[in-house]
Amino acid sequence: MAASLRLQLELDQALGLGDAPWGAPLAHGRGDGRAMSRAATADQHTSAKHSAGASAAKGNPRGSAMMRPPDPPHPATPASVSAHQPQIDFALEDTVPPDLMRAKLQLPLGPAPADREARMREIAIAADVALAPYLNQIATRVVFGEGDVNARLMFVGEGPGGEEDKLGRPFVGRSGQLLDKMIIAMGLTRESVYIANIVKLRSADLDESTGRLKDRIPTDAEVRRGIEFLDLQIETIAPAVIVTLGATALKYMLGRQENVSRVRGVWQAYRGIDLMPTFHPSFLLRAYTPENRAKVWSDLQAAMEKLRQKG
Ligand code: URA
Repeated sequence: MAASLRLQLELDQALGLGDAPWGAPLAHGRGDGRAMSRAATADQHTSAKHSAGASAAKGNPRGSAMMRPPDPPHPATPASVSAHQPQIDFALEDTVPPDLMRAKLQLPLGPAPADREARMREIAIAADVALAPYLNQIATRVVFGEGDVNARLMFVGEGPGGEEDKLGRPFVGRSGQLLDKMIIAMGLTRESVYIANIVKLRSADLDESTGRLKDRIPTDAEVRRGIEFLDLQIETIAPAVIVTLGATALKYMLGRQENVSRVRGVWQAYRGIDLMPTFHPSFLLRAYTPENRAKVWSDLQAAMEKLRQKG
């Protein structure tokens, strides 16, 4: 499979075509909720972000109190996990969006833990404990992330959608299927990389007109709840390259608002780790043009080249 994709790439290059090896048209149908709820712009975020932020600012979050419970001041620890709670320093209240990660960005990575598997298990348990009070009818489980804890390449997306929430795994909906194709085109497997999100709980509102849940961009408060766990995951894996998917991942990984169209293809850094921004697969699904596929493919090729250079 990987070999045939490589062959196709070589052919494309020989013919002067830049399109991605997964470029065959995708079957039409409903996208994942996250993809379908987005504005079809590369940066996706303006309208949804403003509506979420504005309603929260009015003290009137969209959806009923049942759908979006207020933040409990002292999250209760579920009995089932409290016995195993690891000692993880988790203090986010002093971080201020949108500079959430900025202080961290200056810190070089420490040495990777001796036992990465064990450390990742500890972090997962800590995330379960810390995020349990925020579970509700929308976010029914923590979607922690998955993959090889020794991976050299890590993908960071925005947050789980409906499918991910159902299965407790990142990127398993329609945009996940496209991400899988992208990974295979890179000559890798999903199991050999690590995939995580900025938030570990689904962010969605009830669309009163349809009665359906509509995924939306997570608020800063939602990001603040769990982003420390992403940072701990990155410290544990210490990947050689991070690829951010979409504007939300980019914003919080860089500690500033950036336009994906402007900075994609340009190397950035997160705590000394090379970071390549690219479009989110859900954007690509909505704007599935050869030009956009070629841009993403070129970003992924840059990531592969960097991995090769780093040996
Ligand atoms: N979109 C994301 O950003 N993350 C997922 O896990 C799924 C869809």
